[in-house]
Amino acid sequence: MAARAGGVQTLDWTGERLELIDQRALPQRVEYVACTSAAETAQAIRDMVVRGAPAIGCAAAYGIALEARRLVAASDAAREDGLRRAFATLRASRPTAVNLFWALDRMQAALAALAGRRSADFAAALLAEAQAIAAEDVECNRAMGRRGAALVPDGARIMTHCNAGALATAGYGTALGVVRAARDAGKRVSVIANETRPFLQGARLTAWEMVEERIAVTLVTDNMAGHLMQTNKVDLVVVGADRIAANGDVANKIGTYILAVLAARHGLPFYVAAPRSTIDLAVDSGAAIPIEERAAAEVTGFRGERWAPEGVAVANPAFDVTPAALVTALITERGIVPAPSAAGLRALFE
Ligand code: MRU
Repeated sequence: MAARAGGVQTLDWTGERLELIDQRALPQRVEYVACTSAAETAQAIRDMVVRGAPAIGCAAAYGIALEARRLVAASDAAREDGLRRAFATLRASRPTAVNLFWALDRMQAALAALAGRRSADFAAALLAEAQAIAAEDVECNRAMGRRGAALVPDGARIMTHCNAGALATAGYGTALGVVRAARDAGKRVSVIANETRPFLQGARLTAWEMVEERIAVTLVTDNMAGHLMQTNKVDLVVVGADRIAANGDVANKIGTYILAVLAARHGLPFYVAAPRSTIDLAVDSGAAIPIEERAAAEVTGFRGERWAPEGVAVANPAFDVTPAALVTALITERGIVPAPSAAGLRALFE
């Protein structure tokens, strides 16, 4: 499949089901997983068929819409019970990206507004809300891209981590949206994609998106970042985020913190591009953000091949927290927040 302008189709509503590009199989195979219920959607989120904070939120919203569709013929009590269980299942799918909870809260509000209506109305209204969440996500990304592109000098060599592209969103991407918008504004940009151990979102997904779209990309392993900065091969860093605390601390894919420290050491701008749905004002600081611990098998090997000895202890935190003080600016759809602070973040919601 070739990428469309602005990236690949991460989630597709077919009229009857949700189709997700299987991000576990990329880039070797372009395959789709169909979801017809909330439980199947939660499984797809847990298994990383779909991943990336905004994409997880959009998928979960569709999961609720799918469940409402399955329950069209059910009694009011059975529908209420079924949807309650659907919300709980989806909420438990992954802990760190707040977009998941943000999207589910929005679906819950849409559901509350339907009190007293017919079953068929529930299915139609919840589907419309899920589609609105996905459409707004793409709009946010394009707006963020336009704002962020102004920070990118012509000829910039942009380091990024994990995949914060079209695949991590409903389309266009957050960090890679900034890259796309800079390219579209006529700037000559190139990307340095960190491979992003252990799940290789950089090597498999960011590299694939950039190659498909003919944006110059160089793949490096995570431990090369310091050397590249030290030898003047990087002009700026831009990453996405899974949750931003009220004080501006940023949780993102494991390894992001290392890059922020290195960028500060080398005097390079470190930008975070994220929609307001990634900001969690209910969490005071990064210390309170839950960090997902994933399976040891992701560290001891890959796709069934094991390279570590049996019996070794393994740690696999999937995210880390970059203190606000290391963030040069936060790029959102509403505006750029230089040196993010509690006041700066609050102002985005006023
Ligand atoms: O574990 P993942 O692949 O879901 O983690 C994704 C990231 O950390 C991304 O950088 C983040 O969600 C921003 S995506 C626009």
